[in-house]
Amino acid sequence: MTTLITNIKELLQIEDYPKSRVCGKEMSILPFLKNAFLLIENDIIKNFGTMNNLPNIIANKTVNAEGKIVLPTWCDSHTHIVFAGNREQEFVDRINGLTYEEIANNGGGILNSAKKLQATSEEELYKQSAVRIKEIMKLGTGAVEIKSGYGLAKDAELKMLRVIKKLNENFPITIKATFLGAHALPIEFKNNKSGYLDIVINETLPSVAKENLAEFIDIFCETGYFSVEDTERLLKAASKYGLIPKIHVNQFTAIGGVQAGVNFKALSVDHLEEMRDEDIETLKNSKTMPVALPSCSYFLSIPYTPARKIIDAGLPLALATDYNPGSTPSGNMNFVVSTACIKMKMTPEEAINAATINGAYAMGLEKTHGSICKGKKANFIITEKIPSYGFIPYSFGNHKIEQVFLEGIAI
Ligand code: NIG
Ligand code: FE
Repeated sequence: MTTLITNIKELLQIEDYPKSRVCGKEMSILPFLKNAFLLIENDIIKNFGTMNNLPNIIANKTVNAEGKIVLPTWCDSHTHIVFAGNREQEFVDRINGLTYEEIANNGGGILNSAKKLQATSEEELYKQSAVRIKEIMKLGTGAVEIKSGYGLAKDAELKMLRVIKKLNENFPITIKATFLGAHALPIEFKNNKSGYLDIVINETLPSVAKENLAEFIDIFCETGYFSVEDTERLLKAASKYGLIPKIHVNQFTAIGGVQAGVNFKALSVDHLEEMRDEDIETLKNSKTMPVALPSCSYFLSIPYTPARKIIDAGLPLALATDYNPGSTPSGNMNFVVSTACIKMKMTPEEAINAATINGAYAMGLEKTHGSICKGKKANFIITEKIPSYGFIPYSFGNHKIEQVFLEGIAI
């Protein structure tokens, strides 16, 4: 099955040779062709070029993209999409003056989601999560990382991870799973953090590894949640099973989570709303991808990750949604890209790089996703007729997507 897209006004993020990520000044370069074609064979990108070099081929299907822009689908490297119910009431409580921290201390927050998830069957959890997967695919996401972390008990954590596995099997979007057993402390362990970590490390982690349910390990390294010492203990245990760290750090306070992540060769360190100069220094000369989650800053009214400081220091940056019921009930990468431009002063080129190739890197998918490159997965967005690619972030709150192709097929 071959599909030919012709007369593309701008074909974005093209590569002759796949690169793993883009850093610093390189992030302001977004390679593209004007008046281009794109040829797909089954689920793979076969060829691309300018229309005057279009080879003489008869495709099974031809799509005329005149006036439209084609770009790789978004790579959302940080989400908590598998959850039960919602936390709409906490949203209203925050409007009325309570803080995220106060709500969590009153038994709300992550523990509220855990209570709901523990009482929800695997089938029902799958059903609710599948709705969100369909929603983000329509919004142009072609690869997504999903964390556990609302189970907070062995069976419930495994239930979440099995749902993630089933979603990956049943949908054309690529899904990577992360074990986040250390997301919050269950009430019954209120005064026994090390006891809870014992369970995560000695009971849940071995089962996660045995059933091959996760590739990555995460922990909420934050004041009031898990310390740097807890983080080091967990990452050390997880490394024995080959799980690679992708960790929550520096969301509300900077306590050394970046250093712990880099020491344990984390693939990414995520959030980074609070960044000290030493955190930026630590990230230099590492392969760890910093990941910003601007929709979370927007929804909680907390500071935005200092993207300019990070990129101007020569570092790479990825953008992701953090889709979850408490701090970011949205999986819209189009909004993330706009918000990064508007609030974090990233240019459209930097934001698109951060949401495609660097997002792919932050999930270990840079060889197959994140760019238009021969041999990579045929995952791409065709926009409506728009004047130029800058119009994508400019149209904040709207998306300009007409069609999404995943694995070579229009969804
Ligand atoms: O990434 N910060 C930790 N975890 C999630 C929010 C969890 C929740 O409130 O349910 C986050 O923001
Ligand atoms: Fe998160």
